[in-house]
Amino acid sequence: MTITESQQPADRQRILSGAKPTADSLHLGNYIGAVRNWAEMQSSYDAVIFIPDLHAVTVDFDPTTLARRTRTVAAQYIAAGIDPEESTFFVQSHVPEHAQLAWALNCITGFGEASRMTQFKDKSAKQGTDSTTLGLFAYPTLMAADILLYQADLVPVGEDQRQHLELTRNLAQRFNTRFGETFTVPEATILRDTAKIYDLQNPTAKMSKTGESVNGTIQLLDDPGVTAKRIKSAVTDDDTEIRFDEQNKPGISNLLTIYSVISGKTIAELEADYAGRMYGHLKVDLADVLVEFVTPLRNRTNELLADPAELDRLLAQGAAKARGIAATTLGTVYDRMGFLPRKQA
Ligand code: TRP
Repeated sequence: MTITESQQPADRQRILSGAKPTADSLHLGNYIGAVRNWAEMQSSYDAVIFIPDLHAVTVDFDPTTLARRTRTVAAQYIAAGIDPEESTFFVQSHVPEHAQLAWALNCITGFGEASRMTQFKDKSAKQGTDSTTLGLFAYPTLMAADILLYQADLVPVGEDQRQHLELTRNLAQRFNTRFGETFTVPEATILRDTAKIYDLQNPTAKMSKTGESVNGTIQLLDDPGVTAKRIKSAVTDDDTEIRFDEQNKPGISNLLTIYSVISGKTIAELEADYAGRMYGHLKVDLADVLVEFVTPLRNRTNELLADPAELDRLLAQGAAKARGIAATTLGTVYDRMGFLPRKQA
């Protein structure tokens, strides 16, 4: 039995997560919804955080852009507090075991089962069959491989990934039943209570990388002046009261949420602070607080980007750490599936 080697000590559970490098900068919603939580979890969990670049090529992409984005996002994660010493932080394509385990999982996944994945159905319906790749169809089994290789206990993801997590659990159980206990069956920890950040111009839609208006998004690499301007031109309402009410005052509520997360003050405290004051006051103060928050992040990111050799070194170190775990799991899988051991020549 070799699987114990890839299991973590009983005292620290392993969490694993990642987000595709599909934008030129993380935005505030990514930071608040995901990266901040991962950074916090590093001290109490054995954290595996990675950049799923193999997933990024399942839809149309440009190689130069992909390379640039992967680098930028890596630098931003580190700047935002993902500690490459404390965590296992790496780029997916640097660890070949992901693609290898994905193949094994493809061969125990039903065609019908994969066809029922709603994200695949939505994306392929939009693109049409001719521009939909096999890679997109296999996206969920690659994601299952990402998780199962590391024997992750917990996978913090957004609601949109719930079905993929369910498939991952099914595949783990199926493999274990058919070939013997091999994989930890992971739990999804859907990030429900974390603050949702909305588009500043359209505050009922999530702030997203594909948002219609750039003006609705706070990019963490924007110039401070741009950040301030975006807050000051955020859509509000015709009322005058600064009060949290997502139904009737989505714009103001969103600004209060951002303010609360960045400052650590509760919404109630902020409502009290701004009682009787005008929207403009809230916006000016929030713009200041936000600029103060993003500036060090931006500076640290730019420092890392200015020293590509150092960034490469950190990523290489992360990939080596990751392979230490991944190769052990894959070895067990190959052995259980009846692939001959490859002896030294
Ligand atoms: N599919 C995830 C997303 O779009 C990204 C991802 C790929 C992921 N592999 C993963 C997330 C493994 C968690 C665990 O957000």
